[in-house]
Amino acid sequence: FTVPTPQNEPINSYAPGSPERESLQKKLVELAGTQLELDLNLSGEWRRSAGAEIKVVQPHNRAHVLGVTREATEAEWAGAVAAAKAARHDWVRTDFADRAAIFLRAADLIAGPYRDALNGATMLGQSKTVAQAEIDSACELIDFLRFNVGFAEGLYRQQPISSKGIWNRTDHRPLDGFVLAITPFNFTAIAGNLPTAPALMGNTVVWKPSPTQQFAAHFVMKVLLEAGLPPGVINMVTGVGHASEVALLDPDLAGIHFTGSTKTFQHLWNTVGRNIAGYRTYPRLVGETGGKDFIVAHPSADLHSLAVAMVRGAYEYQGQKCSALSRTYVPASLWRGGLKDAVVGMTEDITYGDVTDFANFGGAVIDERAYAKHTALFERLRGDAKATVVTGATADDSQGFFVQPTLVEATDPTHELFTEEYFGPINGVYVFDDADFDAVVRQAADVAPYALTGAVFATDRAAIARAGEELRFAAGNYYINDKPTGAVVGQQPFGGSRGSGTNDKAGSWQNLVRWISPRSIKETF
Ligand code: ALA
Repeated sequence: FTVPTPQNEPINSYAPGSPERESLQKKLVELAGTQLELDLNLSGEWRRSAGAEIKVVQPHNRAHVLGVTREATEAEWAGAVAAAKAARHDWVRTDFADRAAIFLRAADLIAGPYRDALNGATMLGQSKTVAQAEIDSACELIDFLRFNVGFAEGLYRQQPISSKGIWNRTDHRPLDGFVLAITPFNFTAIAGNLPTAPALMGNTVVWKPSPTQQFAAHFVMKVLLEAGLPPGVINMVTGVGHASEVALLDPDLAGIHFTGSTKTFQHLWNTVGRNIAGYRTYPRLVGETGGKDFIVAHPSADLHSLAVAMVRGAYEYQGQKCSALSRTYVPASLWRGGLKDAVVGMTEDITYGDVTDFANFGGAVIDERAYAKHTALFERLRGDAKATVVTGATADDSQGFFVQPTLVEATDPTHELFTEEYFGPINGVYVFDDADFDAVVRQAADVAPYALTGAVFATDRAAIARAGEELRFAAGNYYINDKPTGAVVGQQPFGGSRGSGTNDKAGSWQNLVRWISPRSIKETF
């Protein structure tokens, strides 16, 4: 069979007075007014965990409890693993067309009747504006589901050559065990890829969302079940932190699909490494982790587009995209010739507030821990002779976890502003003499332990070419004259290397290939 040619889901604008805006606003009121029980889902059944309660709040309105989730117990983790194992027999024998139909149906449900619930949950639970929610919990989530079906079909069509009397073929088997998927708070869409990509390829999954994503993840799970996902194919466990060793040390663990911090991924890798002789098969470890994403500008860059990229790249979604701009290298002629004023002007116009007020540019950072990390940084910056706060560096948690968009100029290119990931709205600027562009590019390429996203701004083609070469291994997603955020499924496969992950490109066949373990068959006649 052939699958429909995927198209990216069109973005709704939610313009004032539009029926889309009215309908979403109703849903926001409804969601804010009901305290949901954010339960586990094992073998297709919602179950109340016996573990300790975790309150899920609105980050921009911290007193408002949206729902209650619980720390899954070891017995519940064991139940999820057992459910995934039990479902495997039938799922590996389910035809690709039947598996694909479920995920295509889920995409249609999200595009239609569940769009408001997913966007509303993402806005309230993760403090995203409507624009940021729409490109995540509607468009990217839908795109992952639809495009992955298309990529899978292309992959399954790959077959070896045969000759007279010999028929060779590839049996694209799933992995020989279950997959553990661990999703972060910052993109609901990731919840539509990490558990579903392995499942689409015939694997069964134990899925653990971040508790700060649990509100939206609950609806993703609901949609998958409504779309016809058989019991046990994806089992959702809840709780703080990473996975229980009940799952990590299970002999049938065949893969981990992770997005989150570098430290947690390294911990998972270490745990698997220590237990390596205990598995039936070598687990596939696929992770997308930290970033210290950059822009390097050449004196020939267009000042206005660079200024907009700096503001949008660093401050949309409060700088909490793994792709968010957090270090910028600018030539003195541009900085002093209007760039600084333009960026400061736009930055000081930004309002972070309650995301249900559609006029706000952003919301709060995700939780108390993220907030505290920023106030500690601001404290350090106050006594730092090598750094000057240009704007921001203030925070207020009386209503929600608000951290102001912050621009800091530092004179030392090895300053922590150019190496540490803060995961918030902080942009470090290094101003250089125009003649030093090439040296600065070389320095920027290797100073941070990450390599996720980056950009060059220039109109001089020779400079673009030189920077592209020097920065070849500094970013898995590289932009020329654009901000380093906003990769689109099917257009810019996403992921980075070094401390940023295994670069198994989400939103492409390169990710799906990790969830199969092919068998080569030779038949002679
Ligand atoms: N895929 C997201 C982006 O590119 C993280 O911004």
